Amino acid sequence: MAERRKLVAGNWKMNGLRSALPEVQAIVAGARGLGQVDLAICPPSTLSPMVGEVLLGSPIALGGQDCHASANGAFTGDVSAEMWADLGARFVIVGHSERRQYHAETDAIVAAKAAAACRAGLSPIICVGESLAERDAGDTLSVIAGQLARSIPDEAGRPDTVIAYEPVWAIGTGRTPTLAQVEEVHQAIGRALDARFGAAGRQIRVLYGGSVKPDNAAQLMAVPGVDGALVGGASLKAADFLAIAQACA
Ligand code: PGA
Repeated sequence: MAERRKLVAGNWKMNGLRSALPEVQAIVAGARGLGQVDLAICPPSTLSPMVGEVLLGSPIALGGQDCHASANGAFTGDVSAEMWADLGARFVIVGHSERRQYHAETDAIVAAKAAAACRAGLSPIICVGESLAERDAGDTLSVIAGQLARSIPDEAGRPDTVIAYEPVWAIGTGRTPTLAQVEEVHQAIGRALDARFGAAGRQIRVLYGGSVKPDNAAQLMAVPGVDGALVGGASLKAADFLAIAQACA
């Protein structure tokens, strides 16, 4: 199987004021020597132009946390994929479970956003993940299969697309699946991408997300089929984010 470069993406969610910019500077400084792993930071929209300036000339990419499906228009409060691209972003997260849960985003909406990301020349980071009730009911693999089928548009069948497997019950809780559970889901995702997209699908990176911390990153990142991490809370501190990146490198 083709070796895929690992990617560690930090999702700051609704955290960070301008006073957090030194953390970004610290990440840029600390990332020297981490050439074997791709890094991205997805700050809140308000900080993005400033974070983008700090990242300029560094190997660390800028990403958005969400985008609208349309390129522009009367959509108060929304940000389009074209706007992220205009800012120099390379990635945009779509379908994060918090968007699905708190903004009632369906798989169809997520697919439209992922298609918008592709249209704008960005790599979508398409998130999927089961709830605790679904895991307890033994439905994890079928839930993930359905989300993949419906949330990934045909346009995203290309090597630079990224999938993030994030069990909803692991996000922000300090709980993580067992390594065997992570491997089972990542292998299933890999098979689904291969079946649907062939060679391009085999190049799509599948990140694990949900309570990735410096002390569990090395184990999680060594699981077969795990191509990196989508990191929430631990991405807010440069030292933690860099330690996770180091665990990948
Ligand atoms: P967490 O969040 O690392 O804080 O669990 C992960 C995510 O939501 O992407």
